[in-house]
Amino acid sequence: MEPIVIDIACAAVVLYLCVVRSLRWRRYNAIHAEYRTRFESKNLTPEEAQKILHLSAYYDMPLLLGTSLSFALFKTYAVPSISKILAATRELKSKDRISRRYADTEILICTPAATWVACPISGYLDLPDKRSPDAQPDPRAMIALARVNWLHSKYPISNDDFVYTLCLFALEPPTWAARYGWRSLSNIECYAYFVFWFEIGQRMGIRDIPDSVENMRAWSLKYEKECMVPAQTNKDVAGYTTDELLHVIPETFGLKNFFRNISICLLEEPVRIAMLQPMQSWYMHAITRGTFHTISFVQRSLCLPRRSPKSVVNMESPKFENGSLARQHPVWWQSKPWYKPQSSGLGYLKDKLAVLSGFYTEMPGPHLKSGGYRLEELGPIHVERSGQEQVLRMAGELLGCPAFRGH
Ligand SMILES: *[C@@H]1O[C@H](CO)[C@@H](O)[C@H](O)[C@H]1NC(C)=O
Ligand SMILES: *[C@@H]1O[C@H](CO)[C@@H](O)[C@H](O)[C@H]1NC(C)=O
Repeated sequence: MEPIVIDIACAAVVLYLCVVRSLRWRRYNAIHAEYRTRFESKNLTPEEAQKILHLSAYYDMPLLLGTSLSFALFKTYAVPSISKILAATRELKSKDRISRRYADTEILICTPAATWVACPISGYLDLPDKRSPDAQPDPRAMIALARVNWLHSKYPISNDDFVYTLCLFALEPPTWAARYGWRSLSNIECYAYFVFWFEIGQRMGIRDIPDSVENMRAWSLKYEKECMVPAQTNKDVAGYTTDELLHVIPETFGLKNFFRNISICLLEEPVRIAMLQPMQSWYMHAITRGTFHTISFVQRSLCLPRRSPKSVVNMESPKFENGSLARQHPVWWQSKPWYKPQSSGLGYLKDKLAVLSGFYTEMPGPHLKSGGYRLEELGPIHVERSGQEQVLRMAGELLGCPAFRGH
């Protein structure tokens, strides 16, 4: 090759790497410039915290942080007082129910799925001083929260178990970003996670929530030492959940076991022991870490940043029908495609293909609620028709307008 061609190729590569570098940090720099002073005076509002969260959760590392919240929830199953309640509800025992519960949990809680995280917690995207007079309200986050509060009220959950779960939601995303992400979360972002989840905890009526990031960390470590102990219910509940998550992986060549072992490598030692899972070899750990680190290296240095947010909840303003929120559909689906609309033509072929390749277990249809979900109906199937009035009233109170009925 002519030297000049090599020069041009090298220059192009270097130019590309520089473009990646500057674009990757552009949104980060803008957000940090905007909120630095508010952070320094420890003055972030929950709404501002939510905007800071969106940077990492929906643009910079949506898949990783989504996984971190799934594992945060998973980690609570290593506490017998929590796994006993879940085992007793029987929601996790039958395949149908667990897939449905998983889909609902993803919509209600898990980022990138979280309606709480995705939708404005005060009902409007902007604070009153920045809001246009004809801005449309978005009550979804508080309807989801009210529904979760209503569902929780049916079970004897201790305040400490609530506090622990809440702490994990605030702490696990920064931990995962530091361990596996293409960048760590900044102090401002860690603080934003704390502010946001503290506010959610208060709106859930949780008492004695630790009042800083450091206190949350200390509190949850102490709690783990005391309460995260081995129990059969931990193992059972974790097992059902892992089976659902690994549904698409075939048994052939020991693939399923391989991925099951990888998922064990992602657990911290106390969690693994409390879930009665076998210790993994050093090379399984090496494969796990190596894979994550390779992905994050490629992302950081070679990939252009995401241009639109990635969230299972549609982040555009919700639609209203006859004065109440229209049914919604997630943006992607689990192996049992709950809430996936039935389609015709090309969409139908795509669904068929997904079923043939084992990605979906069956075609979308009315039996899987292809019409979509209402947040106030989510939860175990037998309470689908209960509590909706009450949930909408509670949501209205959370949004500061008691007459609120979802419109
Ligand atoms: C998974 O881990 C178990 C227990 O450590 C081990 O017996 C098994 O061979 C592993 N399987 C694979 C595919 O790595
Ligand atoms: C709205 O209400 C009207 C009259 O009650 C009904 O006929 C119509 O189907 C409703 N539309 C939707 C989308 O629910």
